[in-house]
Amino acid sequence: VIPPMSRLLPGASEPIDVGNLYNDPPIGIRANMVISLDGAAAFNGRVRPISDATDLQLLLAIRSYADVVLIGAGTVRAERYGPVRLDAAAQDRRLAAGQSAIPPVAVVTLRGNLDLSSALFTSGQPPIVVTTAHTATVNPELARASDLIIAGEHRVDLVEAKRQLAHRGMHRVLCEGGPVLLDNLIHEDLVDELCLTVSPRFAGYQPVSGVPSQLAVPRQLELRHVLHHDGFLYLRYTR
Ligand SMILES: NC(=O)c1ccc[n+]([C@@H]2O[C@H](COP(=O)([O-])OP(=O)(O)OC[C@H]3O[C@@H](n4cnc5c(N)ncnc54)[C@H](OP(=O)(O)O)[C@@H]3O)[C@@H](O)[C@H]2O)c1
Repeated sequence: VIPPMSRLLPGASEPIDVGNLYNDPPIGIRANMVISLDGAAAFNGRVRPISDATDLQLLLAIRSYADVVLIGAGTVRAERYGPVRLDAAAQDRRLAAGQSAIPPVAVVTLRGNLDLSSALFTSGQPPIVVTTAHTATVNPELARASDLIIAGEHRVDLVEAKRQLAHRGMHRVLCEGGPVLLDNLIHEDLVDELCLTVSPRFAGYQPVSGVPSQLAVPRQLELRHVLHHDGFLYLRYTR
């Protein structure tokens, strides 16, 4: 027997002020991702074709509550990531709340293969680079170009990385992907919240991972809300 369900659409609902729905990030790791209808995280290597202007604005709002933006090196390379930019109102609100005006970007890399001449490293405050002791030794220029966090000898220990970010006062981490970093965080059971945008577009392929899970059982989160705009669904799941 199928249990009774709630129908969200079509429904008569008042337009709501969305930004404030995200102003209570967890102490821990909130992740934000957009996926295509067929489960892809990008189209031809870029996220923009499966996203839209509203999704991007929402990401900017979600960023404005974070102490730090955590990102995988693959995304930095693919999306040519620069420093976070926030409008003056958001910066004032952050300063009044005791946060830095702008959350720094923290890049996770095993190999240390980052373009140190890119805007991320040359404009504004230097980013944090999270890597291993081995990579830091082999690439001494990383320490000169960034605020370095060494987490692990030969593999990045994400639990240790989170601990060191917290030690710097960065307790509310926003992970913006990509899929490899998000998978690794989930394997370590480190994701406390997922803000997931379901795009109404097929990307034309389905990434399939054959890697066995490190979780004993799938971890269930609680659905906090479902928003809808222009065919996009905005889902917020928390622990
Ligand atoms: N749909 C979305 O919301 C979204 C969000 C972000 C990105 N994307 C898309 O995702 C694609 C990139 O995917 P991706 O999975 O390669 O991105 P990624 O997770 O950003 O990057 C993977 C790289 O990050 C580093 N890394 C990640 N986890 C690590 C760990 N636990 N330990 C050490 N290093 C770690 C490694 O860097 P090194 O190779 O330097 O060692 C690894 O090769 C792009 O096409 C981008 O557009 C989509």
